[in-house]
Amino acid sequence: MILRAVQNMDLPLFLLLLSWSTAVMASDEPFDCRFQVGALSYDLSPLESEQVITRDRPTPPTREVDSVRLSLCSDLKHEDDVSEEDQCPPGTRVCLTKINYKDDAKRIVSVIPIAQTSATLNPVYKTLSSPKGVSVLLHGSPYPHPINVTDAQQSVNITFLCDTSDPPTSPKFTSYDGAQLNLEWSTPQGCGFAADGGNHENEDSGNEKSGSGSLSSVGWFLLLLLVAFAAYMGLGAYFNYTTYGASGVDLIPHRDFWMEVPYMLRDVLSHLCSTVRPRRSANRGGYIAV
Ligand SMILES: *[C@@H]1O[C@H](CO)[C@@H](O)[C@H](O)[C@H]1NC(C)=O
Ligand SMILES: *[C@@H]1O[C@H](CO)[C@@H](O)[C@H](O)[C@H]1NC(C)=O
Repeated sequence: MILRAVQNMDLPLFLLLLSWSTAVMASDEPFDCRFQVGALSYDLSPLESEQVITRDRPTPPTREVDSVRLSLCSDLKHEDDVSEEDQCPPGTRVCLTKINYKDDAKRIVSVIPIAQTSATLNPVYKTLSSPKGVSVLLHGSPYPHPINVTDAQQSVNITFLCDTSDPPTSPKFTSYDGAQLNLEWSTPQGCGFAADGGNHENEDSGNEKSGSGSLSSVGWFLLLLLVAFAAYMGLGAYFNYTTYGASGVDLIPHRDFWMEVPYMLRDVLSHLCSTVRPRRSANRGGYIAV
């Protein structure tokens, strides 16, 4: 019955294409601090505030300071008091600035966009077992390597170590080899929680996630579905109107199919109940769509 009703209609194909396109769009979203690795979910959004991590190195007769600006969940803000060439371009999440000091003179030596949403962030996640945590690798643009002139693809490997101690610590500069920056951050957000929602290892971040006002990915998916359905109805009605001069109920695209839906649901229900009582839809065998 159901198969007969949807025969010769491109609606299933349309729905298939729709769900496929929303799936692709979802994976195209920039890194928003929530992700899942295997059975564990992580929500790094409590760490979203901008961090500045510095490392001081003696380079006689000067002194070099590596300064990392890090904004995990959204792009770094433009610094109005710093000239354009001395800061990373818009769309940067992690920016490394090398500053050289000699006596009282300060010179910005290099400005390196380490992770950029304007390029491809292309996040790679890896859970760590001992010590427990998760590492997130984010990518940026190529930048000339310090020991030769070849461009080196920049990236940052941030290791979030599971640490529930109070007060929370700030991230640490581990190393930079001219291509990959390594940072380490001991934080409760490195612990993760069970992805199925039960057995929360980290109740705080779990609650924060559901408590925040923004839509979850499921919410976005349903919203997209609704918008697409409205567009389908609207465009279908417009098509029927302009092509066939339809009006009223005839405006509904695939009208025959939608009129069948209640009967199909009834069929499905009665089929499910058929173990209890005989199928009633048998009486309706000769039903013809109007
Ligand atoms: C530049 O240096 C890096 C790091 O040592 C190396 O991986 C890369 O191959 C070098 N490029 C050239 C052209 O020598
Ligand atoms: C990032 O760092 C962690 C911990 O140091 C390591 O296990 C992981 O392999 C690193 N990832 C990459 C891509 O280098």
